Amino acid sequence: MAAFTQSVTFDWRLWKQDILGSMVHATMLRRVGLLTAAEQRDIVAGLEAIAGDIAAGRFVWQPELEDVHMNIEAELTRRVPAGAKLHTGRSRNDQVAVDLRLWLRDELMNLSEELRGLQEALVTLGERSAAVPMPGYTHLQRAQPVSFAHYVLAYAEMFERDRERLGHAFERVNVCPLGSGALAGSTLPLDRELVARLLGFVDARGRARLTQNSMDAVSDRDFVVEFNAAAALVAVHLSRLAEDVVLWASTEFGFIRLADAFTTGSSLMPQKRNPDVAELVRGKSGRVIGNLMALLTLLKGLPMSYNRDLQEDKERVFDTADTVRACVRMTTGLLANTTVQAAACRAAAADPALLATDLAEYLVRKGVAFRSAHHAVGLLVAEAEKTGRALNQLKLEELQAIHCAFAPDALQLFDLEQAMERRQTIGAPGRKEVQRQLRRWRGRLAAGKPAGKPAGRRR
Ligand code: ARG
Repeated sequence: MAAFTQSVTFDWRLWKQDILGSMVHATMLRRVGLLTAAEQRDIVAGLEAIAGDIAAGRFVWQPELEDVHMNIEAELTRRVPAGAKLHTGRSRNDQVAVDLRLWLRDELMNLSEELRGLQEALVTLGERSAAVPMPGYTHLQRAQPVSFAHYVLAYAEMFERDRERLGHAFERVNVCPLGSGALAGSTLPLDRELVARLLGFVDARGRARLTQNSMDAVSDRDFVVEFNAAAALVAVHLSRLAEDVVLWASTEFGFIRLADAFTTGSSLMPQKRNPDVAELVRGKSGRVIGNLMALLTLLKGLPMSYNRDLQEDKERVFDTADTVRACVRMTTGLLANTTVQAAACRAAAADPALLATDLAEYLVRKGVAFRSAHHAVGLLVAEAEKTGRALNQLKLEELQAIHCAFAPDALQLFDLEQAMERRQTIGAPGRKEVQRQLRRWRGRLAAGKPAGKPAGRRR
């Protein structure tokens, strides 16, 4: 029974938050007259000593005491008699909720910071490859030319939205449940606002942010789900990036070369340089998605209010946090040690078929309806294919035979450099626009300015 119900083997990770919450709770109890000054001092000193022991690895966790909360409180009471008063007006139900919120607050900020580091790695890679054209794909078929920088900046955008989502999750995590008791508050004159302020559960103006219903406060874990959902999207974005890395590093593409330190050999085939890091990042997204499903399923049938089922949230949320942070870090390192193989990118981007759309748009500029232009160029593509030539090897007369609006300048369209100059709209892969985007990213990252402003200012 003890082995089955205990959680201390994993929730010991909440010890810092648990001790901080207890210190603040004791301070509040003293202010409202439920503890003497001496009792408060003993409790805080005792908790400090325990924190020192835990940090030094000297603390002996006891599974018979179930969880992190009971382990710390029991040890405190063994050391100082006033410890027996600490749980006044408190339950493990609001205690675990506050611990988890404090823990997630740090985690959200740290993950957001790590994502900023990843964005920096992406922008740096973009700056180093700003002039390198490469094919853009849809359906994994060559579509239109982009640049390597444009490609990597697409991921910078995704991770920016992820950071915004983490910021939004932070808003809802950053609310203090302490004072909700087991489920129905307390008859004692607890000062919830003081506790919230001391623990940093405040809005931008420093006003306390408190849960407003004690039953809700101890029984919902929607904030845990939101964190995991935002993290799952990070994992999915990382997984897509990892897939691109795997493809680009293959001999067939050859667009990038990964540093030796980030590849592994084969135990059998001497020539192998496997992109295991990227593959694991891709693979680990599965468990993060799984954790999200586990959390949602855990909550769906729970009657009000607290139920022990909720203990099952910890391992999921710890695993998600650890996994996603590790994946972000490894991807950052991987990208920082990746070389863009400009020649291979250029060779692939030189495929004139990538500019078939430009040819259609040429006709549009001459007043031809796009549908007709699309049809005409389609005929040209078929003709080139039939005669085993590239699209830019067709003669002007052949073009004109298919559409009279073609003039001698039509064949100049196939100059890739100029093609990249033509793409000027906002968000397009043209040279000037990509330069502008790189500057924008550089400025925003240097200012440490996430669009969603997660966390920072709140503390
Ligand atoms: N270990 C528990 C959890 O994670 C703490 C709360 C226990 N409360 C209780 N009434 N048994 O949810």
